Amino acid sequence: MSNRMWGGRFSERPDAVMEEINASIDFDKALAEQDIAGSKAHARMLAAQGIIASEDAERIVAGLDAIAAEIRDGRFAFSRALEDIHMNIESRLQALIGEPAGRLHTARSRNDQVATDFRLYVRDAIDEIDGQIERLMQALAEKALRHADAVMPGFTHLQSAQPITFGHHLLAYVEMLARDRGRFADARRRLNESPLGSAALAGTAFPIDRQATAAALGFDRPTANSLDGVSDRDFALETLSAASICAVHLSRFAEEIVLWCTAQFEFVRLSDRFTTGSSIMPQKRNPDAAELVRAKAGRIIGALQALLIVMKGLPLAYSKDMQEDKEQVLDALPSLSLSLAATTGMVLDMEPNLPALRAAAGAAYSTATDLADWLVREAGLPFREAHHVTGRIVAEAARLGSPLEEMPLAAMQMIHPAITVEVYNVLSVDASVRSRTSEGGTSPDNVRREARRWLERIEAGRRSQERHLDGGHDKRDS
Ligand code: ARG
Repeated sequence: MSNRMWGGRFSERPDAVMEEINASIDFDKALAEQDIAGSKAHARMLAAQGIIASEDAERIVAGLDAIAAEIRDGRFAFSRALEDIHMNIESRLQALIGEPAGRLHTARSRNDQVATDFRLYVRDAIDEIDGQIERLMQALAEKALRHADAVMPGFTHLQSAQPITFGHHLLAYVEMLARDRGRFADARRRLNESPLGSAALAGTAFPIDRQATAAALGFDRPTANSLDGVSDRDFALETLSAASICAVHLSRFAEEIVLWCTAQFEFVRLSDRFTTGSSIMPQKRNPDAAELVRAKAGRIIGALQALLIVMKGLPLAYSKDMQEDKEQVLDALPSLSLSLAATTGMVLDMEPNLPALRAAAGAAYSTATDLADWLVREAGLPFREAHHVTGRIVAEAARLGSPLEEMPLAAMQMIHPAITVEVYNVLSVDASVRSRTSEGGTSPDNVRREARRWLERIEAGRRSQERHLDGGHDKRDS
């Protein structure tokens, strides 16, 4: 038997391989909820426009609700022979309500249907990810506030460079994540147009109301060009690109957690809840979650590359190539969600090892820049000369095996006579971080102020979102 949905001009069944390469149901069943929402909006609009009878629309909507429940409860039998989620649902609707089901696809094509479903799915995913980024930012800012004056080494080239505070380090990630939220919000703004009603590619001769379906689905407006409506996948590319950048940020932090958990660093400790043991080495605690977050960036970035390459050079309008958009996005966005959840879990779980951080902060002559700055400020040396003098003092300290702050004054005066006992005021790590009060610098006062500012902004954002939700309602399910 040929396909019931489109088999009019076909007399034979598709080859098994044809069916296998063509079917998308194994993955696009993830779009079921969105597909049903789109179909309900479409059916109601068709009735409102007098294109189908109101009674038919009511039976269609009731049938779709019944199908939604079947899918939710795992009672729905997905069929590969029915290719994709759209035809699986329509075929079930036919079985449930009979003839009116055949009227649902009036003035619609699977091309605008899938474009609509997919936008709704990506929009939902963005909203979830946005909330998760916000929670991670909050966890980081709270920890930063608590450890605003916990000194640790700051690195460049992964070499101890200057003392910083643990709070300052965490707040650097808050900044990155805030930009990530901005990128997702931008993508969402551009995404939020409804392709529904673009039909196959050219629009339709039926007197449809695209404004109505767009509004019913919570879109800001219909897309303006039907060819673009069915063939645009920018929204998925933009979202994957925002996801890739966010995943890169998480992977950098994950790498630091991996390093910090080693016996060589011992900067933080993760509890049993976020570590695993080794099956052979009883002493080990492995930061697997951090390693996996580090690795997930690979598949998320891979998804972006794959979809860019699928889209490259595709002529207008729809081509079946575009079906390959889904697995990438359906893998990448949940992977990012999981990475965000795991990172938030680790931040909440993580305890900094303050003595180890302090010891490391003072090692490797980390306050040498403070000494050079002192020579500039108090002895009037040009910075280049101060740099040279400090280099010689560091070499002497290394020869004596002494930290800078314990260098004998006489030994330093031998190298430069302008050095006085006052210099010791700037050689401790606490003095060093306290002095870094320039805008954006690591001083504990700055860190406390910035952490509080973030916590207030997050709280204010949440309050305004709640007001927004109270005022409106979820249009999609009305
Ligand atoms: N499963 C298809 C996809 O994901 C739906 C659209 C099919 N359109 C068509 N003209 N065959 O792209």
